[in-house]
Amino acid sequence: MSHEENKATISRRDALKLAGVGGLGLLLGAGGMTGLASGMLQKSKTTGGNDHPANTVPFYGKHQAGIITPMQDFVCMGAFDLTTSSISEVRELFQKWTAASARMTQGQSAGEESGNTLLPPVDTGEALGLGAVRTTITFGLGTSFFDERFGLAGKRPPALVDLPKFKGDDLRSEWSGGDVVVQVCADDPQVAFHAIRNLVRIGRGKAVLRWMQEGFQRTGAADPKGSTPRNLLGFKDGTNNPNVQDAAVADEVVWAGAGDQPAWMGAGSYMIMRRIRMRIEVWDRTTLGEQEATFGRHRDSGAPLGSRNEFDPLDLAKTGQDGKPRIPADSHVALAHMNGKVRIHRRGYSYSNGIDIKTGQLDAGLLFICYNRDPRNQFIPMQQLLASQDKLNEYIVHVGSGIYACLPGTSSGGYIGDTLF
Ligand code: HEM
Repeated sequence: MSHEENKATISRRDALKLAGVGGLGLLLGAGGMTGLASGMLQKSKTTGGNDHPANTVPFYGKHQAGIITPMQDFVCMGAFDLTTSSISEVRELFQKWTAASARMTQGQSAGEESGNTLLPPVDTGEALGLGAVRTTITFGLGTSFFDERFGLAGKRPPALVDLPKFKGDDLRSEWSGGDVVVQVCADDPQVAFHAIRNLVRIGRGKAVLRWMQEGFQRTGAADPKGSTPRNLLGFKDGTNNPNVQDAAVADEVVWAGAGDQPAWMGAGSYMIMRRIRMRIEVWDRTTLGEQEATFGRHRDSGAPLGSRNEFDPLDLAKTGQDGKPRIPADSHVALAHMNGKVRIHRRGYSYSNGIDIKTGQLDAGLLFICYNRDPRNQFIPMQQLLASQDKLNEYIVHVGSGIYACLPGTSSGGYIGDTLF
């Protein structure tokens, strides 16, 4: 627990720097400045709450948190378009975002409060008292980040390709792309929302949100055993994810290696986001046998068809009494398995956005998020196969999409993006 309040220490130089920000000194006049300086000598607040170390994920490190971190219960994900074309402003923005993220992930407010009642508070306040709740904030750069605006086109990673159009795609630009993506995960939805909101505030004048989507899975409170979560089609989702807690597996599947180009992406990863709407009403009229044949797994146990337990190996050669493969060749897992040769790290969440007012049907599905060392060899061939043959396509449609270069981690004193800028 960290309810104690720390005395903020402020140097004269800090006060002057602050006064310089946006001409704040001029704006406030002498009285305002006095209030500001005295307010800064007041106390800094942490959001308090349940800040037990087990609830806190370190922000700094070789890799960004939120990629192989065990999944939290909620995601709030947003993509920003940058409205400045000045690279130094972008650098400054990343420095500020890093500082605020480092604080917010540790259960603190987004910045030191001045206490000056003539100013809006530095932090918006809705996470006060809620603690760290395993919050992670993960930043990635979209393909558009490397256009002509910032002079960084030559630094675009070859693996950050424009995704091809996949069969059946019905993508909407308002749910796709963005210069910078931010994935906030936390065990509390209000804490996750708070983080994005405060990053939006910090970005004002330099970045605007292009899209934002919240997602959920069953909570730890509802399922303390931590069994595999189920997606909105009722199936356990994540069973056959590679074990990325094994460093060798993570190096093969997730992390751009030191020898991969460009060097500034070493220890980073490539994220694919697909907003996949489910045709829930159609699915709900489908027989259980058909549902199980669609995934190639039993619904309740999660076991591969013809096996008993969730984690039994996927035996695609196994045949039934009719001589046909027990797991249909066009089922989702038979195809996505890619003969065991291609693997991705999936980290998606369900979403529900009320109803589609045009049809009255539920607007719900999967905010599919996956991490790749190089999507040219992983997500792209996998999705090409799924898009053309997966039986699941009768029940889903991809409506949003993005590919992002998730930067390497940084250490205290550095900032996310410091290997690039
Ligand atoms: C709404 C869309 C989707 C749903 C509902 C869905 C659901 C599932 C389910 C229930 C499983 C079986 C359990 C498991 O191993 O996790 C599975 C496996 C898998 N899915 Fe999906 N999935 C979707 C989209 C995708 C996409 C777009 C990809 C990648 C392009 C993908 C890749 C995989 C992989 C790699 C596996 C594991 C296959 C194996 O056993 O080796 N899924 N998915």
